[in-house]
Parts: sequence; structure tokens; C-alpha cells
Amino acid sequence: MKMKSFLSVAVAAAFTGLAGVSAAHEDTSMAVAAAMAAPDRPEAQVKRDAARNPGPVLTFSKIKPGDTVADLGAGGAYFTMIISGLVGEGGKVYAQNPPDWIEKFKGIAPKLEALEKTRPNVKTWTVPFDKLGFEDNSLDAVTMALIYHDVTLLPTDRAAMNRQIYAALKPGGIYLITDHHAKAGTGDTLTNDLHRIDADFVRKEVEAAGFVLDGQSDALHFASDDRTKIVFDPSVRGQTDRFVYRFIKAK
Ligand SMILES: C[S@@+](CC[C@H](N)C(=O)[O-])C[C@H]1O[C@@H](n2cnc3c(N)ncnc32)[C@H](O)[C@@H]1O
Repeated sequence: MKMKSFLSVAVAAAFTGLAGVSAAHEDTSMAVAAAMAAPDRPEAQVKRDAARNPGPVLTFSKIKPGDTVADLGAGGAYFTMIISGLVGEGGKVYAQNPPDWIEKFKGIAPKLEALEKTRPNVKTWTVPFDKLGFEDNSLDAVTMALIYHDVTLLPTDRAAMNRQIYAALKPGGIYLITDHHAKAGTGDTLTNDLHRIDADFVRKEVEAAGFVLDGQSDALHFASDDRTKIVFDPSVRGQTDRFVYRFIKAK
């Protein structure tokens, strides 16, 4: 189904299936809701919406139709696909994964290949996190969804990575990071054992590259999570307390 027609169908279908996440969180824009309701989204991905709450998260990101976005650590493209619908035909999404992950997680490559066929605005971008290779001032936004902690497990120069992201963004560009909260003061010491990271640790690394924290959202806040269990533990899975940071490259 061509991009334009599936979007108009989606507008009509907006706001279905957002059950499971309390209404206390921010609203969802029509453009984001339409992207979430796109009929070609795999059922397995739609089922993750209740736990991932992409509506308020992407609305908060300020990503808009026509934007060029890099979704870093895209994995199997859950977030990439919604962003693809949000930026639409006039926009573009780079789905980046490091070669190590393509090698280790065999399911990623076929998913991205299939997505590129149905979504012409998606481009697979397999490069290391610290050799991103984007042109300076070419991106409107960069997203990192639930993977900053995984990047600490790689031999990645994260300071170089954040500097490259800063250079690639246009002035006023957005750097959106979501991840699982670790207890304050633990830095990156629990990224392997619990798949969690200290939000303040991430903030300091990103600000060191010149970014300013423009806002944070509680769209993924779960007070019920005491941040001590591994994120895959059934008692917290899908309801882990996660931070949502929106950084900006000041104009
Ligand atoms: C929570 S998802 C994040 C992917 C994507 N950004 C998203 O929003 O869905 C986790 C993905 O990160 C990748 N990954 C990298 N290192 C990993 C690790 N140590 N354990 C689990 N997944 C890992 C896998 O591709 C996995 O699908």
C-alpha cells in the first residue's frame, strides 16, 4: 500500500489500542497517532505499544512530518517504523545498527530489508556508533530508544559518538534518549547486569558534547519499579521506570 494512502487510512483509525498506559501522560498528536495506526505495522510491534507508549514519547520528541531522523540502535525497527510513518513521504529515517549487532542478533537484517521494501523513506545504516558518517547539519533529530545502556557494553568512544551526533544535527535539532532508570549514582555499573543506566550519568555525557537538556517527559515513568531488578524480570518487564530526555543543539 503506497505511503500516502496508508497514512489517510491511518488517520481514521487513530487512537485505537492505546490501552494499558495510564492517561496521566502527555497527549498524542494526530500525526503520531496516525503513524501508530498504520495498517502495515506488524502485530507483534503493535502489541508492544502498551509497554512502550510511543504516542506521548514521539509527540514529546517534536519530530514532525518532513523531518530527516536517525534512529540509532534501531534493532528490529520498532521505533523506526513509527517514525517512518510520522515523517512521511517528505521525510527520511536512517535505521542505524552497529555491525556487531547485525552479526549477533540475526533477526535484525531481514526485518530492515523487509521494511525498506514497504517504506521507501527508511534507509538501513550499518555503522559503528562512533563512526556514524552523517553529513554535518543534515539531521532534524536523532533518537536512541532503550539502547544507551547497551552502547556502554560495546568498545564505543561515546564522547566521539555524542560529538558526531551534535555535528550531524541542524541548529535546533533534537536528540531524544529513552532508557531504563538505574538507581541514582550508579553510573554505567549496572548496564550489563540489569540493563539499566543512571539518567544523570547519561545527561552529563550528552551535555559534555554541547547539548542542552530541553525537557524531560514522564511518559514512561513507573513509580512501582524500585529500579533494582533486571529489566527482563517478569515482575517489572514492560513497566520499568524509564527516563525520556529531549536534548537540543542550541541555535
Ligand atoms: C529494547 S530494544 C531497542 C531497539 C530499538 N531502539 C527499539 O526502540 O525497539 C533492544 C535491541 O537492542 C539490541 N541489543 C543490543 N545489545 C543488546 C543486549 N546486550 N541485550 C539485548 N538486546 C541488545 C537488540 O537488537 C535488541 O533488539
